[in-house]
Order: sequence, then structure tokens, then C-alpha cells
Amino acid sequence: MNFNSQNVSSNRKPKTFNNPERFIEGWYWAIPSDNLRLGEVKPITLLGRDLVIYRGKDRKAVTIDAYCPHMGAHLGEGKVEGNELRCFFHQWKFDREGFCVDIPCLDEPLPVKLKAWPTAEKYGIIWVWTGEIPLQPLPFVPELEQKECNVALVSHFVTNCHPNVVIINAIDTQHFNTVHRLPLEISFEKQELNQNAITFNNTTRGRESSFLIKLIRRFYKNAVTYSVCYWYGSTSMVTFGPDFLHLHIMFTLRLIAEGKTEGHTLLMMKKRQGILGWLCNRIVLWLANILGQSFFKGDAKLFEKMQFNLKTPIKADQPIMQFINHLERQTALCWGTWQQTRSLYDGESRENRDKWRDALND
Ligand code: FES
Ligand SMILES: [Fe+2]
Repeated sequence: MNFNSQNVSSNRKPKTFNNPERFIEGWYWAIPSDNLRLGEVKPITLLGRDLVIYRGKDRKAVTIDAYCPHMGAHLGEGKVEGNELRCFFHQWKFDREGFCVDIPCLDEPLPVKLKAWPTAEKYGIIWVWTGEIPLQPLPFVPELEQKECNVALVSHFVTNCHPNVVIINAIDTQHFNTVHRLPLEISFEKQELNQNAITFNNTTRGRESSFLIKLIRRFYKNAVTYSVCYWYGSTSMVTFGPDFLHLHIMFTLRLIAEGKTEGHTLLMMKKRQGILGWLCNRIVLWLANILGQSFFKGDAKLFEKMQFNLKTPIKADQPIMQFINHLERQTALCWGTWQQTRSLYDGESRENRDKWRDALND
């Protein structure tokens, strides 16, 4: 693959990217925290798997497989008792690790266990890790790591494209000029944070001839801030704004049936001190929500009908290729069963693998 020419041919088909049967092992949004009250149990389908999620008296959200190991009743009909969940049908009871702890007609419970999934809450959302033990943290904006922030959950949507395709919109440099008509000349520098997170940071100061850029440039010490941090190929954190006022948009997506996407949009800012700081953040978040709605209209229209096929990548598409390359190296699971798949590089010669990686890393 040669990025020196304007037209870059790609003869590799990614195995996980845009695949309606696969997703990356990681943290995924389950439901907004406010939708699960104390003592409540809710059925959810997450990446094709039926689960229930409940909140016990210790306020912790718990996620377990949906079907009772006795006779298969859906535990969403069950009842929360303390920190445990009782099946509606024959009243067997399960603890938060999924162990059966009571069978009313027997003196002792049987050694049966439901699968329980690591569950956490952050940004007003309940997140579930789709494997045994979380290997990476919940998605975060690098500059906000360990910092408190104000969050607004602004939209919930479904769209016809695969989450990977929707999410790369934020690094599709050409479309900022064509769809959004922004006078930016974005050029990214990529950095892999870990196996599941990659960032793209803009390095340019915008178009010289643009009045708008001349106007806003005084608020940027260096490059015009625009950075994107991707987690698990399905959650992105987009950071922009002048040096004194960074705004962050989180798009957190998951794959639903037929290769479509269901997701949430959140707006975030670093918490400011005092009542004035709080008010400033509220106003900015409110304004950003209003402006954002019209900004994303063009993208939303595209995703309804698009059939992604990057047949003719050019140099400007390099960040997208780098995203795909990073994604293909993450652990992929099968939609529905959550079983591990074989990796992209299984069966590839080491030489081929390195060649592809080098071409993308230059
Ligand atoms: S099916 Fe749940 S207790 Fe019988
Ligand atoms: Fe866009």
C-alpha cells in the first residue's frame, strides 16, 4: 500500500471492521443510569445477547444472563430482593455473581450459576464489559482522565450503518469541507493509547485565507484543537474549542441486528469551580446541543442509505485506514454469542502482516 500516490489501492478486506457479525471485546453502554431505579430489574439486549440488569439495595447495577438456569424463564420478570434477584417462575434466587442461593422447595440450593458481566457506571450511563474480566478502563477523554466533568446526555438514535462506519465520520477529513463546509485543513497525528484506544490529534492552524480561521486563531496557542479518541471501535470522544473552553462530544454506539447502530450522544466539559463555573458549563452545553443538532443533519442523512465500501482510498483517507488497522488488532467477539473469533492475522504470513502494518504506520 503506497500513500505517496493520490490514489491508494487496498487489496485487503478487513475481517472485523463493518462486519455485522462481530464486535470488539470492551465496555458498551447498556442503559442510562436514571432508567434503573433502586430495586428495579430491566431486560436488555446487548450486542445480540439477552441480559437483565438490576439495582440492588447497595445501589450497584448488576448484569446477568437473562434466562433462568432452571427452566429458562426470563429473569426480567423477576424480583429484586436485597442485592439478589428471584425468578418469577419457581422462585429460585441468584446473587450478583450469578450463583443460585435459594430454591424454595429444597433445603439446599443447587450448584448452578448464571453468567454475570462486569458492570460500571460513569457519565450517567451503565456500562457492561463483554468478557470475563475488564482488561481496559471505561472510555475516557485523555485530557479529562481522573478529572470531574459535567455531562449532558443529549440524544439517543438508531441508524442504518454499522457503528464502525458511523464513528469514523469524526476523522473523515474531506467531509469537514464538503458536508460541513468548515474552512479547516485537518491533518492528524495518531497515537495508540493502548490495545483498545487510539487518538487522532489535529496538527494544523486552519486555512490561511479564511476570515473565520483568522478570527479564531488568537484563541489557540498552537494547532486548532480537534482531537478524537476511539475506544473499542465503538465509542468516540471528540474534543474541540478554544484553549480556554474545551468541549467534548461522546458518541457511544453498539451494533444491533442487521448491522445497524444504536447509540447515545453526550456532551461533556471539565467541571468548573463555583456557581458561575457551573452556570457557564450549563449554558455552553445547552448551546452546543442546539448547534450540534443542525451540524449532524448532513451526516445522519448519509448514514440512512450508505453502503460502505472504501474501494478507492486516497491519502486523505489515511486516518480511516489507521483506525481500521488498529481495530483489526483488537479481540473480536461474535455478535449474539460473545464467543471469541479468530483474529485478522490468523493464517497470514508474518511478512505480509508487517508490510501492511508498516504502510499504515508511516
Ligand atoms: S424457571 Fe426460574 S425458577 Fe424455574
Ligand atoms: Fe460529520
